[in-house]
Amino acid sequence: MRKPILVLLFISLLAVFAVGCSNERVAKPELKGTGPLALKLPPGILSPEYHQPVDYWKDHHMDILKRGDYNKHECMLCHDANTSCNNCHDYVGVKRVSGYE
Ligand code: HEC
Ligand code: HEC
Repeated sequence: MRKPILVLLFISLLAVFAVGCSNERVAKPELKGTGPLALKLPPGILSPEYHQPVDYWKDHHMDILKRGDYNKHECMLCHDANTSCNNCHDYVGVKRVSGYE
């Protein structure tokens, strides 16, 4: 009596996996993402206070940079322009950041 239930469970697990994988096909440039666009930051560093909340920061970091509150050189203490700025900028079609290395 138990077996059919286990088989069913297994099949539904496979289905969940398949859906999960198809969602991953277009990997977005996000933290903890996978694939070539994943944002990379050195392990173990904490994000500065001005990053909080991070969703706000994601939308407004450019305003803060343009206003000159922070210098881009500061960003590069933790961020690598190619692996944690430009992979996202390329994805969304924003001008690349460069020359801060
Ligand atoms: C002290 C290290 C540090 C500095 C300096 C720093 N960051 Fe970050 N940044 C991080 C960390 C760590 C994260 C990961 C988000 C988190 O853990 O809250 C992050 C996340 C981000 C994200 C969001 C990525 C995402 O998809 O969630 C953006 C955008 C970003 N930083 C831009 C900048 C800019 C622009 C500057 C310069 C003004 C800067 N950072 C300076 C460490 C830093
Ligand atoms: C998770 C995505 C993401 C990451 C990571 C990211 N940015 Fe951006 N950035 C954007 C978006 C989206 C815009 C444009 C928003 C707009 O035009 O309204 C932008 C715009 C900018 C602009 C203004 C560019 C212009 O031509 O107006 C600067 C400067 C900038 N980002 C710097 C950085 C730096 C430096 C880093 C890395 C430390 C970084 N960004 C990381 C998404 C990101």
